[in-house]
Amino acid sequence: MKTLEWEDNKLKLIDQTKLPDELTYVYCNDYREVIVAIKDMIVRGAPAIGVAAAFGMALADLHGEDLDKAADEIKAARPTAINLFWAVDRVLNSDDPLKEALTMYKEDIDTNLAIGRHGAEIIEDGDTILTHCNAGALACVDYGTALGVIRSAFHQGKNIDVICDETRPRGQGARLSVWEMQQENIPVKLISDVASGFLMSQYKINKVVIGADRIAKGGVVNKIGSLMVALAANHFHVPFYVAAPLSTFDMNASVFDTEIEERDGDEVRYYGGCRICPKGTEVINPAFDIVPKELITGIITENGIIDPI
Ligand code: MRU
Repeated sequence: MKTLEWEDNKLKLIDQTKLPDELTYVYCNDYREVIVAIKDMIVRGAPAIGVAAAFGMALADLHGEDLDKAADEIKAARPTAINLFWAVDRVLNSDDPLKEALTMYKEDIDTNLAIGRHGAEIIEDGDTILTHCNAGALACVDYGTALGVIRSAFHQGKNIDVICDETRPRGQGARLSVWEMQQENIPVKLISDVASGFLMSQYKINKVVIGADRIAKGGVVNKIGSLMVALAANHFHVPFYVAAPLSTFDMNASVFDTEIEERDGDEVRYYGGCRICPKGTEVINPAFDIVPKELITGIITENGIIDPI
């Protein structure tokens, strides 16, 4: 099962808004439908957004559309994950958009397997690992970055437990990461977002492994809540790792210049379809935060484990 696939000249996506209850698919016939799928988070997670965007460019090329215009529109879908911009530019600069998108599709899987192999070295038998959001197969073409590390350690026969925090407001931890772990019988427990500090204080978490939407000078951008987890981990001396492909790095920029996506306030006002605050309540809803490099133990890439930049 792949998060996205090229099928009959269409992009086939798992509809991640329907998980965990329904495993259904959405087909994108043109690049504008890919943009809607990215905006509505039918496909989400930095590497998956990147590869979907690459296929969006391939669709634009297939239909003889203006590629520069398509590139600008696709890049405007979501602002924070750098993989989106990297992927669109890579296809734009290639001779054959579809061939390039298919290459990136394959590369993504190989990259994640390599991240998994390197990352498994830091996981010890008996570890309980906290992960935030979903940096799993569903956030990539397959296998995942942070969950790829966990998968790899588990398949090596290490006895591990995984803790997913719910990851309000969109619930990627509860809905997607828990589901992914359960598909492979990897032991997993769900906690509320506010419980991780307490569990660390009780020595119940040995390591944190998360993904990244952008890595630049000074730190890492990832799903909102990552910073709180990193602060707690630092206080209780729990090693805090980030797993990400090199395509997520922006070596020349400061991480603090990253545009942080602000999403619709209803994501916070409503929980499971029910309003949880007085009508008309003003909301601040940043989708990502920035973990400064001082709080990061190491970054697990396809080329090995490195220090934050
Ligand atoms: O808003 P999302 O669900 O696209 O955010 C996803 C994350 O923050 C992931 O942790 C990140 O993209 C890394 S995925 C390998």
